[in-house]
Amino acid sequence: MRRSKALLGVLLVLATISKSPWGAAASSSYCKQMGSTTFRPHSVTITEFGAVGDGVTLNTKAFQNAIFYLHSFADKGGAQLFVPAGRWLTGSFSLISHLTLSLDKDAEIIGSMDSSDWPVIDPLPSYGRGRELPGGRHQSLIHGSNLTDVIITGDNGTINGQGIVWWDWFQNHTLNYTRPHLIELMYSTEVVISNLTFKNSPFWAIHPVYCSQVLVQNVTILAPLDSPNTDGIDPDSSTNVCIEDCYISTGDDLIVIKSGWDEYGISFAYPSSNISIRRIAGETKSGAGIAFGSEMSGGISEVEAEGIHLFNSLHGIRLKTSPGRGGYVRNIYISDVTMTDVKIAIRITGQYDEHPDDKYDENALPLINRITIKDIVGVNISIAGLLEGIRGDNFSSICLSNVFLDATADPPWRCSYIQGYSNLVSPESCEPLRDVPNETSVCYAANHLRPHLSDADRLAGSSFVKLTSL
Ligand SMILES: *[C@@H]1O[C@H](CO)[C@@H](O)[C@H](O)[C@H]1NC(C)=O
Ligand SMILES: *[C@@H]1O[C@H](CO)[C@@H](O)[C@H](O)[C@H]1NC(C)=O
Ligand SMILES: *[C@@H]1O[C@H](CO)[C@@H](O)[C@H](O)[C@H]1NC(C)=O
Ligand SMILES: *[C@@H]1O[C@H](CO)[C@@H](O)[C@H](O)[C@H]1NC(C)=O
Ligand SMILES: *[C@@H]1O[C@H](CO)[C@@H](O)[C@H](O)[C@H]1NC(C)=O
Ligand SMILES: *[C@@H]1O[C@H](CO)[C@@H](O)[C@H](O)[C@H]1NC(C)=O
Ligand SMILES: *[C@@H]1O[C@H](CO)[C@@H](O)[C@H](O)[C@H]1NC(C)=O
Ligand SMILES: *[C@@H]1O[C@H](CO)[C@@H](O)[C@H](O)[C@H]1NC(C)=O
Ligand SMILES: *[C@@H]1O[C@H](CO)[C@@H](O)[C@H](O)[C@H]1NC(C)=O
Ligand SMILES: *[C@@H]1O[C@H](CO)[C@@H](O)[C@H](O)[C@H]1NC(C)=O
Repeated sequence: MRRSKALLGVLLVLATISKSPWGAAASSSYCKQMGSTTFRPHSVTITEFGAVGDGVTLNTKAFQNAIFYLHSFADKGGAQLFVPAGRWLTGSFSLISHLTLSLDKDAEIIGSMDSSDWPVIDPLPSYGRGRELPGGRHQSLIHGSNLTDVIITGDNGTINGQGIVWWDWFQNHTLNYTRPHLIELMYSTEVVISNLTFKNSPFWAIHPVYCSQVLVQNVTILAPLDSPNTDGIDPDSSTNVCIEDCYISTGDDLIVIKSGWDEYGISFAYPSSNISIRRIAGETKSGAGIAFGSEMSGGISEVEAEGIHLFNSLHGIRLKTSPGRGGYVRNIYISDVTMTDVKIAIRITGQYDEHPDDKYDENALPLINRITIKDIVGVNISIAGLLEGIRGDNFSSICLSNVFLDATADPPWRCSYIQGYSNLVSPESCEPLRDVPNETSVCYAANHLRPHLSDADRLAGSSFVKLTSL
C-alpha cells in the first residue's frame, strides 16, 4: 500500500514534468544536443596562411584562403580554423559547412575601418531593400549562406566590429548602403555561436536569417549605450532557435525577433517560430530587453522567454508593428523577468510606421494575440504598461499574471485597442485587461508541445490560472 502510494507519487511527478512548458522540455534537450562539442578531425591555425596578429596587417586573404583550403575536409568530419592570441584585423569573409571557427582566449578578430573591405551584397528578399537605405547592404564581418553544421566559438575570445566609424557615417548621413552585422548566417542549419564576446558591432551583432537549429549560448555582447541600432541578437525568419546565458549591453534591443518587412515579408512568408530564450541579463538605452518586430510580416509564433534580468533600460518587453506589416505575432510566453530602473516595463506599439517604400498595403493589418506575460517584478519603473493596438484591429488575449511593478506614472497602465485578461497585477491593470481568465479564455500557456492535446486544451485558461497559483 505504502509502496504503491510512493509509486503513484513518482508517476504524478513524471506526469507533471511531461506537462512542463515547451521552453523547459524542448529547449533543454535541443540545446544540450546542439551544445555537444563536435570533434573536428582536422585543424589549421590562421598563421599557417600568412596572417599577422599585430592589429595593423589586413588578414582578409588569410581567412579566405584558410577557409578555401578547409573545403576539402567537409566530407571527412569537417575542420577547425583556430585563431590564436593576437589582434587579427580583417575585412568580411565567408564560412563553409562543417567548419568550427575557434578563437583562443586572447584572440580578437577586428573589423576593418575601410568600408570597401565589407562588400555590398543583395538585399534580403523578405526586406526588399537594405533596412537603412534602398539597395544592397554591406556583408557582415563573418558571413555564411546555405551552410550546415557551423560552430563559431572560443574561450571568450572577441569579435570586434570597430563600429564607431559606421555609427559616425550613419549619424553624418554619409553611408551609401545599410550597415553590416558582425555575424550573419542565411539559409543555414545546425549553427552554434558560443563562448565569445562581441564588441562594437556596426549594426545588429548576430543575425540568423532563414535559419533553423541555431544555438547562441554564453556570449557577451557589448556596445556603447548611445550607439545607433546596435541590437544584440536578431533571429529573423528562423525556427528552432535557442538563446541562453547571455549578457548584452547595447544601444538598441538586446534580443529581437523579426520576420521580414511589409509587402516583401508578406510575400516571402518565412515565419520565426519555436524560439526559446533563457537566462539573459543586460541593459539598453533606447531599446528593449526582449522585443518582437517591428519587421514581423512573415509571422512570429511559439516563443518562450524566461529568466530575464534587465536594468537601466528604456523598455523591458516590447512588441512593435504597424498597419502595412500584415503577418502575426501569437503564442508568446514571457515569464520570470526582473527589471530595475526601467522606464516602460511593457510596451506594445501598433503604429510603429517605418515602411520600405510606398508600395505597402495599409489594409494589411497584423494579427496580434495570445501574448502571456507572467511573473514579472519591476523596481523603479516609470510606466507599467503602454499598450496600443490598432483601431479596428484589437490586439487580443493579452494576458498578464503575477505582475508587480513599482511604477510612478499616473495612470501606470495606458491601453487602447487591446483586449485580454489579468490576474494578480499591481498596480491594477487597465480596464480592458481586468477580466480574470478561466477555462474558456485563451491565455497562452506555452505547453503546446504536450502530445495528444487539442488546440482547445492547450489554450485553456486553466493552466494559466494553475501556473499563477504556484
Ligand atoms: C563553452 O565552453 C565550455 C567551457 O570550456 C564548454 O564546456 C562548452 O562545451 C562550450 N560550449 C559550447 C556550446 O561550445
Ligand atoms: C541558398 O538557398 C536558397 C533557399 O533554398 C536558394 O534560393 C539559393 O539559391 C541558395 N544559394 C546558393 C548560393 O546556393
Ligand atoms: C562560458 O564561457 C566561458 C569562457 O568564455 C567559460 O569559461 C565558461 O565555462 C562558459 N560557461 C558555460 C556554461 O558554457
Ligand atoms: C568575457 O569577456 C567579457 C569582456 O571582456 C567579460 O565582460 C566577460 O565577463 C567574460 N566572460 C566570461 C565568461 O569570462
Ligand atoms: C562622417 O564620419 C566619418 C567617420 O568618422 C568621417 O570620416 C567623415 O569626415 C564624416 N563626414 C562628415 C561630413 O562629417
Ligand atoms: C560612399 O560613396 C562615396 C563615393 O563613392 C565614397 O567616397 C564614400 O567613401 C562612400 N562612403 C562609405 C561609408 O562607404
Ligand atoms: C516546432 O517544434 C515542434 C515540436 O518539436 C515541431 O513539431 C514543429 O515542427 C516545429 N516547427 C518548426 C517550424 O520547425
Ligand atoms: C530610477 O530609474 C531612472 C532610470 O529610469 C534613474 O535615472 C533613476 O536614478 C532611478 N532612481 C533611483 C532612485 O534609483
Ligand atoms: C476593442 O477593444 C476595446 C477595449 O480596448 C473594446 O472596448 C472594443 O469593444 C473592442 N472592439 C472590438 C471590435 O472587439
Ligand atoms: C469565462 O470567460 C469568458 C470570456 O471572458 C466568459 O465569456 C465566460 O462567461 C467565463 N465563464 C465562466 C464560467 O466564468
